[in-house]
Amino acid sequence: MKFPSLPKKWGQRQRPTLGLDIGSHSIKIVELSSNGTSRTIRCIGRALVPPQAIVDGSIKELDKVTEVLKILLGNLRPKVKYAATSIAGYSVIVKKIIVPYQDEGEIERNLIFEAEKYVPFEIEEVYVDFHVLDRKRKESSGTEIFLVAAKREIVDEYAVLIQEVGLSPAVVDVDAFALGNALEGAFGLLTEPIVLVDIGAQKTNVNIILQGASLFARDMAFGGAQLTEAIQEATGLEYLDAERIKIAGSEDMAIMKEVTPVCKELCGVWAEELKKAMDFYKANSSTEGYPTQLYASGGSASLKGLDRLFDDIIGLPVKIFNPLHGFTIDHDIEPEYISSVAPQMAIATGLALRTLTK
Ligand SMILES: Nc1ncnc2c1ncn2[C@@H]1O[C@H](COP(=O)(O)OP(=O)(O)OP(=O)(O)O)[C@@H](O)[C@H]1O
Ligand SMILES: [Mg+2]
Repeated sequence: MKFPSLPKKWGQRQRPTLGLDIGSHSIKIVELSSNGTSRTIRCIGRALVPPQAIVDGSIKELDKVTEVLKILLGNLRPKVKYAATSIAGYSVIVKKIIVPYQDEGEIERNLIFEAEKYVPFEIEEVYVDFHVLDRKRKESSGTEIFLVAAKREIVDEYAVLIQEVGLSPAVVDVDAFALGNALEGAFGLLTEPIVLVDIGAQKTNVNIILQGASLFARDMAFGGAQLTEAIQEATGLEYLDAERIKIAGSEDMAIMKEVTPVCKELCGVWAEELKKAMDFYKANSSTEGYPTQLYASGGSASLKGLDRLFDDIIGLPVKIFNPLHGFTIDHDIEPEYISSVAPQMAIATGLALRTLTK
């Protein structure tokens, strides 16, 4: 997918880019290379972000985040100096609209005027861009596009961070689109609609993809941090202990008796939220667009039992998405490491693929 790059000035030259996913829980980096026949993972890694340093997609503590990213880059030593990153949540609006123009130049010239009708912020406060949807969907009255508007304040914060660590911002994408890009990178153009669900720490990105095109994209305000907090509340444990037990469980049966129902209940709430979004989408779509499978990614997709619970409540078979399927691995990277982190690397991989020539 060639989704828009925000702001435009950064996306004009297609250079190889580092996939840089700046999450509220961890920063993820993927560097890929291609020799024409195979694609190789050159660098891959992640680093924890200090609590509260990134909140609602906004970088609150630039110094701390810069330090973490510098250390990660120092360990990984990527060759590429241009970074592709992405934003999500309340700072970006993605909307399918029909504009009364056919020609892309004309759409571009009138974009601000069209955007003003849909963007709930002052137009001077946002970068706007667009992506023309499937040509077959061209309406006689105009063209269907994805309008993308991102808060300048947030985009600029990410650009400052990238420059602070000695990289250059090349592409600013949207999480849900990067996720779609990762699916296409791993499995090509699938003929059945797939719903991609990336469950992070503070948010979840949803994107329904058919033949490389996005049919529906939405961000939802839930994720693993909420579960850690719920475990803390139920058990009185410190944050790090609650986080550890959430991921690895505990031999202490009394603790598990408290933790297990909390996990089950909250994951059930997430599944219900997703089901509601699916029902809304289905009510506005034809049956050919109904998803047949759900691919879960993000750190919280690894929660034990989440796949089965989602399957039961949403009514779709759930698979854990491996965005690195079919990639070869540079000799100094452990395949076991790749397997353990792959689902969490979906957005970073989609970003790294943004400018990778096959
Ligand atoms: N093996 C695991 N089992 C369960 N949860 C996990 C596991 N590994 C990581 N997590 C959880 O996943 C979350 C981090 O995932 P991820 O890196 O996708 O989030 P993020 O991108 O930093 O956050 P966001 O996109 O919401 O800002 C944390 O809540 C963490 O506790
Ligand atoms: Mg994330």
